[in-house]
Amino acid sequence: MLILTIETSCDETSIAIGEIKNQRVKLLSHVVSSQIELHSRWGGVVPTLAAREHQKNLPLVFKAACQKAGFKNTEAAQTKIDLIGVTQGPGLIPALWTGVNFAKQLSQDWQKPLIPVNHLEAHIYSAWTKSLPRQFSLIDNPFPLLALLVSGGHTLLIKMKKHLQYEILGETLDDAVGEAFDKVARILGLGYPGGAELSRLACKGKPDFSFSLPLRKNPALNFSFSGLKTAALYKALSFLPDSGSKSIFNQKPKPNLNLPLSQKQKRDLAKAFEDIAVESLLFQTKKALAKHSFKTVLLGGGVSANHLLRKRWSEELFLVNPRLKVSWPPFELTGDNAGMLVPVVYFKWQEANPKKKRAFFQNWDILEARANLSL
Ligand code: KG4
Ligand code: ZN
Repeated sequence: MLILTIETSCDETSIAIGEIKNQRVKLLSHVVSSQIELHSRWGGVVPTLAAREHQKNLPLVFKAACQKAGFKNTEAAQTKIDLIGVTQGPGLIPALWTGVNFAKQLSQDWQKPLIPVNHLEAHIYSAWTKSLPRQFSLIDNPFPLLALLVSGGHTLLIKMKKHLQYEILGETLDDAVGEAFDKVARILGLGYPGGAELSRLACKGKPDFSFSLPLRKNPALNFSFSGLKTAALYKALSFLPDSGSKSIFNQKPKPNLNLPLSQKQKRDLAKAFEDIAVESLLFQTKKALAKHSFKTVLLGGGVSANHLLRKRWSEELFLVNPRLKVSWPPFELTGDNAGMLVPVVYFKWQEANPKKKRAFFQNWDILEARANLSL
């Protein structure tokens, strides 16, 4: 079975063609065209600019994805592709619509079923794959399972009793963890989005201070990162001579705050922040594992690229319960990409009854992008 997937929820235009054969997902092609450079000038993603770029890039990315998958041209792909999947939401509405409209037109032209995918479930299902050279095998994640979803817009602990069914156990009360990484990166004068760069700086940090763990005594499974961001700002200001800190004290962090910090101060702040943010994610995950009975724990979302989180995730969760299956996505499927939609589309098709399968054809006419789509 061949599946073509399209992702345009934010600032990456991506199309993948995946083959599912003998329980194995092979990505025949996976093209990701990033707009980060364009948006970094503005200190964040500009939705209308993103949509304009997607519009421009989609035909090129589509052609490249077909050719990389070994098809002579896009017409040759038509005869072989069985299903088309597209990110429906959540995300930036003008950006989402470009992908949804492209997918509707393509599936109508090709007369193929169109399967909408929730961006959050795509991040979760990225951990249904295991990296092999140039391909991903579809792994088994036994239910019930606990998923930790960490991205620029979400921090969620989710329980799944079966495929495609989600129960939210905990969420952030304020900023998402990726958002907090990006805001602290701004305090350190790094570019946008700053999570990965902050983490690179943190590798060389050796702070003699630490931040306190948010919601340590709270029995719920929620997260909070905005206090941590403020603590990081105050710590940064405390490094400055009095005159410098006083003038900035009443301002909110702005893009490129550009405080005159030394390289050592930046590294130490980055390390102290990364340590406590990752500790908070592990702390609440372990608490959920202790409260409920799970067979699998899995990780997904842009922040799952973080090396400290991946290391601690792979090393510590086995210790909570040696029988627990511990999963996380291949590095290439951590950020926003179309490759992670392939397993979701496959499972959605497998789980659908004949009536539902026929309904997927109607999406040519009725599918709508939804900015606030929830799980
Ligand atoms: O999933 P994603 O690509 O987009 C959303 O759906 O939001 O996640 C992007 C977020 C950004 O906040 C980015 O700074 C963060 O993931 N991120 C990281 C790392 N790589 C990306 N945060 C910490 N460490 C990283 N290595
Ligand atoms: Zn994402």
